[in-house]
Amino acid sequence: MRLGIIGATGLVGREILAVLKKFNVSLSQLNLYASEKSTGRKIIHDNKELTVRLLSEDALAENDVFISSAGSSIAKKWGKLIRGQALLLIDNSSVWRMEKDVPLIVPEINADQIKEHNHIIANPNCSTIQMVLALNPLRERYGIRRIVVSTYQAVTGSGQDAVAQLNDELADKDSINRVFPHPIAFNCLPQIDSFSDDGYTREEIKMVSETQ
Ligand SMILES: NC(=O)c1ccc[n+]([C@@H]2O[C@H](COP(=O)([O-])OP(=O)(O)OC[C@H]3O[C@@H](n4cnc5c(N)ncnc54)[C@H](OP(=O)(O)O)[C@@H]3O)[C@@H](O)[C@H]2O)c1
Repeated sequence: MRLGIIGATGLVGREILAVLKKFNVSLSQLNLYASEKSTGRKIIHDNKELTVRLLSEDALAENDVFISSAGSSIAKKWGKLIRGQALLLIDNSSVWRMEKDVPLIVPEINADQIKEHNHIIANPNCSTIQMVLALNPLRERYGIRRIVVSTYQAVTGSGQDAVAQLNDELADKDSINRVFPHPIAFNCLPQIDSFSDDGYTREEIKMVSETQ
């Protein structure tokens, strides 16, 4: 299998590489893609030096399967292109999660639904995955009517720019890419993601809709 990772230089992309190594996933080719910012960057993976390339449509001929961790707008565009070529996309963003013909998979719970994919497989929001893993055995045994949830999320959950903002603040430097609307060092912000008109944040809505 030829695998392409879109967003390979990000926090999630690097974790994907670590997991591929940990589970010794056998690949005939591993291609790493990112934006212009990281084009040409070298990443050592499994004792081999791989060069990060700019994501372009050439990638469609170079891979059988893609994993994307580059955000929703990239995943939306690339999901359509990958589908058009009858390849497979496994996407970490929220953009495909609620589509009817895209299975929303937590492997420990509903891996059997993977085969129903129409060239795109999504996984839920990170808080949702952890929550349903713990709740599924209880649901199977007793059923669940209502869940009251609080999450306490790390800076890393907001990506590499968020970590850069934290490091800048810790070093007393002005941050170029501010992700959080308030200082984050030594702070706790009682908000995650942006607010919708109904007063809930997008992150809260994701946890509700992705568990249905
Ligand atoms: N499902 C989950 O459990 C989970 C958990 C956390 C995050 N996520 C999702 O995963 C995605 C990435 O999160 P992250 O924390 O890894 O973010 P991140 O650290 O900011 O990384 C973003 C990655 O996307 C790449 N990228 C940005 N623009 C691009 C473009 N135009 N073309 C190609 N690559 C581009 C970046 O490349 P450069 O290095 O070139 O900038 C980088 O590799 C987000 O959608 C996030 O919501 C999912």
